[in-house]
Amino acid sequence: MLLLLIPLLLTCCNKSTSYYKIGVSQCSSGKWREKVNHEMLSAQHLYDKEVKISIANCYDNAQKQVQQIDSLIDANVDLLVIAPYEYSHITKSIERARQKNIPVVLFDRKISPKNYTAYIGGDNVEAGACIGRYALQLADRLQSQNKGRKTSVLELTGPMEMSPARERHKGFAQTITQNTLIDYQFLITNWTPEDNYKKMMAYLKAGKQPDIVFCHSDIDALGAYQAAKECGLEKSISFLGIDGLPGEGQGLEGVKSGKLAGTYIYPTHGEEIILLALNILEGKKYKQNNTIQSFVVTPTNVDDIMISTQVMMQQNDYLITIQNKLENYLGQYHTQQMVLYFLAFAFLISLVAILLIGRAIQSTRRANHQMKKANNKMKKLNEEQTLFYTNASHQLKTPLTLIAGPAKELLANCSQKKDRDKELLEILNRNVSLLEQVVYHVLNFKEQVKKAMAEDTLLSVSDDAIPNSQLLADEQHEDKSVTNDIQKGHQKMLLKLDTDELPTILVVDENSDMRKFLHTLFADNYYVIEAADGQSGLKLAREGVPDLIVSDIIMPVMNGLEFCKRIKEDPITSHIPVLLLSAQSTDHQLIEGFKNGAEAYITKPFNAQLLISHIESLLYNREKLRQQFAKSANVNLSTTPHHKDDAQKKEANEHKQEIPAVQMSTADRRFIDNLKTAILEKMADSHLKMEDLGDELGLSRVQLYRKVKALTGLTPVELLRKMRLQQAYALLLNSDKSVSEICYEVGFGTPSYFASCFKKEFDIYPADLKKNNK
Ligand code: FRU
Repeated sequence: MLLLLIPLLLTCCNKSTSYYKIGVSQCSSGKWREKVNHEMLSAQHLYDKEVKISIANCYDNAQKQVQQIDSLIDANVDLLVIAPYEYSHITKSIERARQKNIPVVLFDRKISPKNYTAYIGGDNVEAGACIGRYALQLADRLQSQNKGRKTSVLELTGPMEMSPARERHKGFAQTITQNTLIDYQFLITNWTPEDNYKKMMAYLKAGKQPDIVFCHSDIDALGAYQAAKECGLEKSISFLGIDGLPGEGQGLEGVKSGKLAGTYIYPTHGEEIILLALNILEGKKYKQNNTIQSFVVTPTNVDDIMISTQVMMQQNDYLITIQNKLENYLGQYHTQQMVLYFLAFAFLISLVAILLIGRAIQSTRRANHQMKKANNKMKKLNEEQTLFYTNASHQLKTPLTLIAGPAKELLANCSQKKDRDKELLEILNRNVSLLEQVVYHVLNFKEQVKKAMAEDTLLSVSDDAIPNSQLLADEQHEDKSVTNDIQKGHQKMLLKLDTDELPTILVVDENSDMRKFLHTLFADNYYVIEAADGQSGLKLAREGVPDLIVSDIIMPVMNGLEFCKRIKEDPITSHIPVLLLSAQSTDHQLIEGFKNGAEAYITKPFNAQLLISHIESLLYNREKLRQQFAKSANVNLSTTPHHKDDAQKKEANEHKQEIPAVQMSTADRRFIDNLKTAILEKMADSHLKMEDLGDELGLSRVQLYRKVKALTGLTPVELLRKMRLQQAYALLLNSDKSVSEICYEVGFGTPSYFASCFKKEFDIYPADLKKNNK
């Protein structure tokens, strides 16, 4: 791109130097010189190639002209145009120009050595001869008038060191002397009107009276005329000049006014000087000596010449106006061109900038992409690292609990221990606490990282989803003794059914040590049965219907959440409170636990007392639920006995504040309703067996027993008896049936047994109730 710009800029800069510099050295001032200068300047834009002309004038000072020419050479002009003041003084300067390969064009005047490149100007010999021939005509006329009198001709020349004066004199003298009847004289002047006036006056005052006076310029001739006029002789002398310039006080006006008898138009042709210079510079063909022919102006042709000169001058003025405008336009054009170049340059620069910026953006994007990739990699590594620490910490929780729990238990009983054992236990306890804190901080840190990253993906990496293979310590060490434990637990539970002493807790945890520890914790107050995973826990729960389940979450085969969900869905086990015990402790995980129906959630490492309190609280709530049921059962089954109203109300009020707002689940309520319906339908059958009721509800005898007992606090047999008695109570009050009829209707085998049970339940014999009611 920049390579494109460089030539463009060079073209732009070259424009300013794409012309020739021509230096002009003028020898003198005056109208003729002004005209030449004017024409040369006008020719600057006349030709194909532009030129720039600088003019220096030495004002008739030979020494000064040498200096000016040298300056022009030093200024590295392409060509020199010189009108030499004298015949030989600039020879050295021209030689210097030649050495510097600067062509030199002489005009108007010549020099003796021929070391210049070319000459252009009027033919001064011819000019002198031309005027001479015209003077001969005038002399002829005078001679014919004066019959035989010699005609006197005076020539006032310029200095002979100047070529025009020398040549004009030569041409004039040669011509005029051809006529033997002419008396010819010449005087040399310094080529000024003043000197010509002076010389003329002196000549006349000397008593000489010429017929014809030829001066080397028109203004010189007018100077001589002035002298003659002052002597009163102007009418008898014919004055001739050279130059033939238009304008006031110049030759053409002199001829027109009659002051001058004639003049020779000494050609200026500045434009031809420039054309010759250009030809030389361009290497075109040119002549070394270029003389321009001209003619004499007489009173006969002066009018025509003046008109044509006028026209020419007018046209020259137009040309100058056009040139000025052209120069102006060219100036504007150059400015516009510069602006255009600048805009093009700016456009290209912008283009380059855009390209570079584009590239920069692209590479930045690429870098960002790579950085993102690297970041993702880092993030993944971080996640994996965090996961590693989290898992490690989770894995630490269980052994920690198993160390902390027993240690605390031991310490609690330390009064019987020796001092040394107590100290050791205290050290153990302290350090376990420290370790617990470290684990807590690691897990807490993970949570903070999670929040900060707010990454769904990270959040979704629930520990439940962690495959067992990823767990730090592989817990696939399936305890072989688990099956035995379960069998033992089963037997124990059946034993419990018989003794009906303590509530049963099902512990589901993969870790056998944890199961053992929990077993030890609960053993004093509960029957403990155990399972090593969700699936076997579910089986045991369905078979044994424990009073409460304590379950871990991360387990093989079926995890704790799934296990909890299945427990709550099964009508046999739906009522059993589930306490999840897990190393997983984020809000999200807690929510997951509760979503799956868990009643409580305790995180590892746990405080043993806290766990026991939770269990007690859950069982207490169940008890309250049973009490609520017992009350509602009375109301729902039959008309409440009058004499018990007050006592019941009192009891209800007492419990109002104690009983927490525990409610039976919909599934359990439905179960109870179905059970009641089944009992009401079959109660008349005095041989009704619990198996029959269980079959009706899809439960085994044990399941029915455990479920009914858990929900109502009564065994199915007790519930059946209670409902029979309540039904009998209602019938005694609301029907005309006899006591024994009612006894059989509600399923009692003998009236005496009915009466005894009724008295026990309502503190009144059925017969008395019937009698009182009448
Ligand atoms: C002007 C002039 C003209 C004359 C010419 C000769 O400087 O004197 O009048 O014709 O020079 O070089």
